[in-house]
Amino acid sequence: MKIIYMSIIGNTRRFVEKLEMDSLELSEVNAFTEIHENFIMIAPTYAIEMTDILNDFLETDDNLSYCQGVIGAGNRNFNELYCFTAEDIALDYDVPLLYRFEFQGSDNDVKKVKEIVTEIENTNYV
Ligand SMILES: Cc1cc2nc3c(=O)[nH]c(=O)nc-3n(C[C@H](O)[C@H](O)[C@H](O)COP(=O)(O)O)c2cc1C
Repeated sequence: MKIIYMSIIGNTRRFVEKLEMDSLELSEVNAFTEIHENFIMIAPTYAIEMTDILNDFLETDDNLSYCQGVIGAGNRNFNELYCFTAEDIALDYDVPLLYRFEFQGSDNDVKKVKEIVTEIENTNYV
């Protein structure tokens, strides 16, 4: 399972480093990369103008068909806007919203996400 993500301030990047998994950080330069393996997207929460490279990636080639779900990274102080970017992606592309965490994630968040990944991998193999 690959982790596809973007990061503006660096929180999501630090979270992904803690996962110690194969990953790809999206930027303006590589947003249209074609992928041919299952992935989970981690989306930090910002206005759509700042996160549209995530949409570009999902809409490239058959990329969406490999998406196993999306995880939101945000800040609970935004209340009802907490992790809306990941929620919108889940709705717009009909993929599961797997988990949400704040900032660079706690040890427990790392553990939970690893469990979710293992569960999806096991489901895919039966
Ligand atoms: C300008 C700005 C707007 C943000 N808006 C939201 C928001 O609407 N909802 C939310 O949950 N978090 C919001 N956040 C928090 C970020 O999504 C959060 O800090 C995240 O960890 C940033 O990820 P990054 O460091 O990888 O870019 C905002 C942060 C900034 C700087």
